Amino acid sequence: MKIAVIGAGVMGHGIAEVFAIYGNSIYLYDKYPEALKKGLNSILWSLQKLKEKGKIEDVDKIYSRIFPINDLQDIEDSELVIEAVPENFDLKSSIFKEVSGIVSKDTLIATNTSSLPISELAKNVVNPSRFLGLHFFNPPVLMKLVEVIKGNETDTSVFNEGIEIVKRIEKIPIPVRKDVIGFVVNRILFRVFTSACRLLNKYTVEEIDSLAKYVLEFPMGVFELLDYTGIDTNYLISNEVKKRGFDFTCNKLKELYEKGFYGTKVGKGFYDWSKGRPNITK
Ligand code: 3HC
Repeated sequence: MKIAVIGAGVMGHGIAEVFAIYGNSIYLYDKYPEALKKGLNSILWSLQKLKEKGKIEDVDKIYSRIFPINDLQDIEDSELVIEAVPENFDLKSSIFKEVSGIVSKDTLIATNTSSLPISELAKNVVNPSRFLGLHFFNPPVLMKLVEVIKGNETDTSVFNEGIEIVKRIEKIPIPVRKDVIGFVVNRILFRVFTSACRLLNKYTVEEIDSLAKYVLEFPMGVFELLDYTGIDTNYLISNEVKKRGFDFTCNKLKELYEKGFYGTKVGKGFYDWSKGRPNITK
């Protein structure tokens, strides 16, 4: 399949990598050359890791299926477009308007939005019946689940096609037929984040994360995960969902965002990542 991934950030580059591993040709677009370069370097790093572990054979062959582009017009012959730009409704809307003017009206257009209603975003595409949500989790190459979300106007055949696409890359599709804020996973996760944030007036970041890891048996602490998925990403999500009546305010998140402490990607967030993953003790 010929696939265009729009945005080479944390999610975009990972989504491009997964589809390339399964033999698809990928256009990886980012408006910012530095972001594109960083995304490509992360793909190479990840492919090498997978090779070391015997999960893939040929790094170069997979990597050669990814075509970096900085002109959106180049995606014209794509069969599927997956948008993975930051969580900002206006930004996503402008991308969909632009993409709709380039690709055929039969092209499937998907959004990797974490929280925004598919039916609202669909207002910006020419053919909303071929628009759906494909929501991956970070890091896309390791996480097994992908939410497939049906908007009000998504055709049932398109929704089913989305499920098949996810199965072809050996992920587990979670069919979401109710287009609600945060879908299934993030709707639950936002509550977990908000509750953990509220506890910060009584406990430290490390204490809460220790409980999350060793009592609740989460693979990562709650704040560790916020750093990992990105303070910027989570702050933008919290703003968008708040406008839609879902309050996921966390003062500490705002404070970190304003200081530019975006988490692992910059080496600082709730934790200092300059020396690697935080050592959360029991
Ligand atoms: N590609 C290839 N290898 C990778 C990788 C990647 N992208 N990321 C990590 N690895 C490797 C590590 O380098 C490490 O290799 P090593 O054994 O050679 O050192 C190996 O995987 C294991 O990693 P770690 O030792 O760091 O840690 P874990 O065993 O805990 O595994 C994890 C890492 C799979 C990320 C695990 O911690 C986990 O599942 N964390 C939770 C992630 C999660 O919940 N994601 C969803 C977030 S919500 C979201 O994305 C929604 C969005 O809308 C906000």
